Amino acid sequence: MTLYSRITGTGSYLPPRRVTNDDLARQLADRGIETSDQWIIERTGIRARHFAEPEVTSSDLALHACRHALEASGRSAQDVDLIIVATSTPDMVFPSSAAILQHKLGIAGCPAFDVQAVCSGFVYALTVADAMIRTGGAKCALVVGAEVFSRILDFNDRTTCVLFGDGAGAVVLEASDTPGILASDLHADGSHVGILCVPGNVSGGQVLGTPLLRMDGQAVFKLAVRVLEDAARATLAKAGKVDADIDWLIPHQANIRIMQGTAKKLKLPLDKLIVTVDEHGNTSAASIPLALDAAVRGGKVKKGDTLMLEGVGGGFTWGAVLLNL
Ligand code: ACO
Repeated sequence: MTLYSRITGTGSYLPPRRVTNDDLARQLADRGIETSDQWIIERTGIRARHFAEPEVTSSDLALHACRHALEASGRSAQDVDLIIVATSTPDMVFPSSAAILQHKLGIAGCPAFDVQAVCSGFVYALTVADAMIRTGGAKCALVVGAEVFSRILDFNDRTTCVLFGDGAGAVVLEASDTPGILASDLHADGSHVGILCVPGNVSGGQVLGTPLLRMDGQAVFKLAVRVLEDAARATLAKAGKVDADIDWLIPHQANIRIMQGTAKKLKLPLDKLIVTVDEHGNTSAASIPLALDAAVRGGKVKKGDTLMLEGVGGGFTWGAVLLNL
């Protein structure tokens, strides 16, 4: 009997257009807004991000990431019996980006749906897929984080537009006799909705409110550091593990200072922290699977390693997944 789920392949994709801090500073200067490579690096650790071309959607980025993950797992799209896409920048209001992705993969019939938990979306999606596999609802899932956050950035707001980027990451999660996903811990607290949101909606053929990202950076920062430590500790406790059992910490790539703060609280040396925020920026739900795939393909993270994945984002939402690769 299958008791567990296990990642059997990872993949990712970044749109080709790489935008450095200097590129962005020049673009903002044209609007009379001042920023600099130095400010962005010092406050966030970000050096560059990738922006998709206007016609490219989240499901387009997801398709590339899924093909790479399927190839790595030795599976084909025909083996897939569940698709979950974590995104806050879906192709359409409906149907889900997962359904659109399913069609682009050339398959039909299996359940496909989106998860909306902003930057925690990937740990939410992985937890849902794990539960469905362990209860017999699926055997071979594609779990994806895909975003075109550049679409919801306000390029007149230097406090937010320098932080985010576009991209997609995916894993193939399969039924397994050996673990796999060891434990997870998910949370949300809607009382913090105002500190990080896109406060708009579609109504009567018009956008009501603001369809651009708004963030109170300092409030997010303080909350993120606290909840990330709590989620990691709760997940370790559920799995009967301790800090020292973690081989690699792969947190949501929002800000190097938040990530290093979390590693220190978990008493992990900084060389156990996977960092891609420097080259990717914050890609929201895509950031964890992008970082995971970069670490696997870069030869750092190896089969059998114990990984702590951690997400935090709008909602407020947060959570962690501990797994053996
Ligand atoms: N370039 C130059 N100056 C800037 C910029 C910029 N891009 N942005 C802000 N400043 C200025 C401000 O106007 C302010 O100037 P002032 O002192 O003259 O008023 C000064 O820099 C300091 O601004 P702060 O907001 O205090 O800067 P802080 O050190 O807090 O850094 C930051 C801002 C980077 C946003 C930080 O608060 C942060 O990282 N917060 C967490 C954000 C985050 O991680 N969000 C995502 C998590 S959830 C998710 O992923 C959706």
